[in-house]
Amino acid sequence: MNKMNLEKQSKEILIKNDRGGYTVPTARLYPFQWNWDSGFTALGLVKFNEERAWQELEKLFEGQWQDGLLPHIIFHQSSPDYYPGPDLWGMPKDVYENDRLLPQTSGISQPPVLSTVVRMILEEANDKALAVVAAQGLYPRLLAWHRWWWRARDPENTGLSVVYHPWETGMDNSPAWDKALQRVEAVNNSGHKRRDLQQVNQAQRPSQMDYNRYMALVELFSSLKYEPEALYEQSTFKVIDLGVNSLLQRSNIDLLSLAQQFGSLEEQAEIEMRINLTRQAFQRLWSPELSIYLNWDCITNTPIEIPVAAGFLPLFARIPDEKQAKQMSYELSRWSDLCRYLVPSCSPDSADFEAKRYWRGPVWFIVNWMIGEGLEHYGQTALSEQIRQNSKELVELSGFFEYYDPQDSSGLGGGEFSWTAAIFLHWLSE
Ligand code: GLC
Repeated sequence: MNKMNLEKQSKEILIKNDRGGYTVPTARLYPFQWNWDSGFTALGLVKFNEERAWQELEKLFEGQWQDGLLPHIIFHQSSPDYYPGPDLWGMPKDVYENDRLLPQTSGISQPPVLSTVVRMILEEANDKALAVVAAQGLYPRLLAWHRWWWRARDPENTGLSVVYHPWETGMDNSPAWDKALQRVEAVNNSGHKRRDLQQVNQAQRPSQMDYNRYMALVELFSSLKYEPEALYEQSTFKVIDLGVNSLLQRSNIDLLSLAQQFGSLEEQAEIEMRINLTRQAFQRLWSPELSIYLNWDCITNTPIEIPVAAGFLPLFARIPDEKQAKQMSYELSRWSDLCRYLVPSCSPDSADFEAKRYWRGPVWFIVNWMIGEGLEHYGQTALSEQIRQNSKELVELSGFFEYYDPQDSSGLGGGEFSWTAAIFLHWLSE
């Protein structure tokens, strides 16, 4: 298909997935507003409707909690197509704030990409007056969310924040979480209630046992009333996720730029301190043997020795030094010799690699965009360009899917997928 058609098609997908001020990731499988999805989606919306891009972000923050947490799902309206809904998260109904009905939400967060998105949209906006008002309005909410990550999720001030659920990493089914998840005691069969299997082939989705463990964690958090200290002490799943921490660090850098325009000197100093602390702390996640960063299991206090695509995301956060960045790009080139399309979500020669099961092998556009951007920053232009070309080819061959088989290019998961369309549009205009 030619470029014009694909451009038109990607805009149509974003318009079709619009539910009135927010965009669903895909029509049936994910019928609500998802946190990081909306961030990436805004990067596509801004290409043809700036007002709508800002609205996407404002709508998301309608679900922010008093303590700063920005939930991973905002249930603006109910849907029979999704499990677990708000009641399972233990969320009260009919809560009003200044006469406004608050949307129900989940009780965990997702990788924080929004400060980066706000800064990018602000800088490229044609309607500067609108952009400044919108960014200024979002800034205190972003700061509150970052502080929540720094404090509620890093109470010992180590520089790295923890997550309590695979869903919180956005890379739900990554093999990196297997061992940590196995320690979680499963609840009894939640299978009859799952909705995902009616829409996507079982071989591409998490197993039933995993689902029972996911639900055990949700029940635990709800029973602890999401109290930060209690979660930190009692969550049976606790990891330092490279995705969350890389996106948070990059977002810290971009939040600092927003603070220079809209914040106080104290806030700037606070953000700068956190950036320095995190940069240092990341060193313990570097593996010189594997030339990649590793996730960390906080219950056993050991690195998780499975090389996954998130191991390259510190490039997006400007964490590695020049030498490390070079080693990482050699490692990624090695992956590319082993499989046709970059970037597979797990090393292709790892025992855990599965080309079609989600987050265990498939290619994801959002991950490609972030790794590509990082490589470009470090001067690895050829590899970055290869990622972009591979991604475009996937769309040309298969359409706008949720994720793709890195060997045979088939499109998998949900179709007409918002973040794939949005990143495609973002790339097109670069
Ligand atoms: C899946 C993905 C997650 C994404 C959500 C909506 O759960 O793992 O990252 O946010 O779908 O697209």
